[in-house]
Amino acid sequence: MAIPEQFIDELVARNEISDVVSSYVTLTRKGGNLWGLCPFHSEKTPSFSVSADKQIYHCFGCGKGGGVISFIMEIENLPFPDAVRLLAQRAGLAMPETGENEGYRRRRERLLALNKEAARYFHRQLQSPQGAAGAAYLFEKRKLSRGTVTRFGLGMAPDSWDSLINAMAELGYDKRDLLDAGLAVDSKKGRIYDRFRNRVMFPIIDVRGDVIGFGGRVLDDGTPKYLNSPDTSVYNKSRNLFALNIAKKSRLGRMILTEGYMDTISLHQAGFDCAVASLGTALTAEHAQLLARYTKEAVIAYDGDGAGVAAAQRAIPILERTGLKVKVLRMAGAKDPDEYIKSYGREAFARLLDQSENHIEYRLRQVRQRYDLADDAQKVEFLREAVGVVASLHSAVEREIYGGRMAAEAGVAPEAMALEVKKELSRRLRQEKKKQERRDLTPAAQLQPKSRGLRYENMRSARAEEGVIRLLLLDPALFAQTGELEATQFSAPVLGKIYGLLQERRRTGLSTQLASLASALEPEEMSLAALVLDQPEDLSRSGQALHDYIETIRTEALRRAEGDSPGALLAAREKYRETKGYGG
Ligand code: GTP
Ligand code: MN
Repeated sequence: MAIPEQFIDELVARNEISDVVSSYVTLTRKGGNLWGLCPFHSEKTPSFSVSADKQIYHCFGCGKGGGVISFIMEIENLPFPDAVRLLAQRAGLAMPETGENEGYRRRRERLLALNKEAARYFHRQLQSPQGAAGAAYLFEKRKLSRGTVTRFGLGMAPDSWDSLINAMAELGYDKRDLLDAGLAVDSKKGRIYDRFRNRVMFPIIDVRGDVIGFGGRVLDDGTPKYLNSPDTSVYNKSRNLFALNIAKKSRLGRMILTEGYMDTISLHQAGFDCAVASLGTALTAEHAQLLARYTKEAVIAYDGDGAGVAAAQRAIPILERTGLKVKVLRMAGAKDPDEYIKSYGREAFARLLDQSENHIEYRLRQVRQRYDLADDAQKVEFLREAVGVVASLHSAVEREIYGGRMAAEAGVAPEAMALEVKKELSRRLRQEKKKQERRDLTPAAQLQPKSRGLRYENMRSARAEEGVIRLLLLDPALFAQTGELEATQFSAPVLGKIYGLLQERRRTGLSTQLASLASALEPEEMSLAALVLDQPEDLSRSGQALHDYIETIRTEALRRAEGDSPGALLAAREKYRETKGYGG
């Protein structure tokens, strides 16, 4: 990596990890650490910890961990140089322009320029004879206005194998460019052809206004109905929302989340300029974080069919975790928002929007629908399930209100319901406490790395190796006392690698904090390092501890050598004593 290491050190020093993490996760202090709900896996009680002392994060649930750069790489799904750029911007540091960086940036800009030219080309076709079918589809069949088509830059890819390729070639773009942008496909025979043919085109524009990809829809019942750009170096479908470039400027005070291009475009045409769509993919945590940057409330307006309801139920916790207020639109009489507006008009949709349920009502109604409350057995089942939902609510007020409502629904006394909820709450609390105790009590000796590829062969040695690494990370003065301990003596390759990197950095005068190793370690290796660093260590006798760890590593290394050639252990022991002058 061509970004100077000194710059990385400066970057890490200027981006305090709890500050950075706080803009994605709500953290609360408990003991020495900050805790929150892990943004990398789904959970209800916090197992994600941030240590300001150690400048690391670590999740006890999913095992992810590392320093501030790793966190950004993970949560924004960025490669190392982009994560560094983001953090540099955040801290107001100017990126050093390295050759590699510069090349990477130029490539990106070229692909973005190509995408913009392609969007212009598709849009122009709507006025030409070869785009006539597309114009008819958008204006007549889908009832879009000129203004809407222009605002979204919609277009048409002609029914041809190479019309875009040829048009872009005239502007100086070659085969490689078109392939890299996902606009052309390789035909095994060394030739390329247009990816999008005979489809109406929806450019996907990011919040900066750059065209990063396309969706294309068939004009008839052909398949696939929609074809989307593949992920490229400028487009990642799990990180971008269609129309957010427009919706981010909306003054409606909330965002409407739909499943498709046409739903979103229809809503905009009807005046709801706060609609966005996640495209051809389930809503991700990154989508949710992106939304949360621009609004406080999200209204889910997915299709009314089973798939839409299931998708909404999956999206609720993901959105909630970012602190967004979540509501769900109840639509009857139409398959999706586009059809609803066409059938009933914008006023009707505005009413739906006002009546949209908060997510608790939504979840409870989903439960209620599954039971026949006239049947006593089903009523009991219904209450059991409703108690579960109510107990999962964070505020006592919410539990009281919704608990009472469910009780009334089933015709039981609210006190009875409250009692059940209370029982359920203490059951959950006990369970949580047990989980925590297990966590606290698990001797490190039992801990195997989460990632199978990193499993320890020699547990005794690995524990000592972890100890050495932990001590060096906690107290760099101890580097002076590592003597002749070498990475090759480590039994676990991953720990040897980390140790080697730390020694190398120490020798060349670089910082030896964990965060700086983000480009040198694989994510699983980084997570393991964070776990190691997060284990308790008594620093009051660190010199002795280091000595003991090293002794264990040496002994175990010799034992392994012995296994390979009997007698080696003794010989090596002798040699060791001689060099150390212990006599014997
Ligand atoms: P219209 O029929 O044009 O109104 O589309 P729709 O939005 O009603 O379509 P649907 O509910 O079937 O799909 C919702 C979204 O899922 C679309 O906007 C696309 O982003 C995506 N999608 C639909 N069909 C396909 C497909 O065949 N392939 C891929 N990759 N995505 C699709
Ligand atoms: Mn539709």
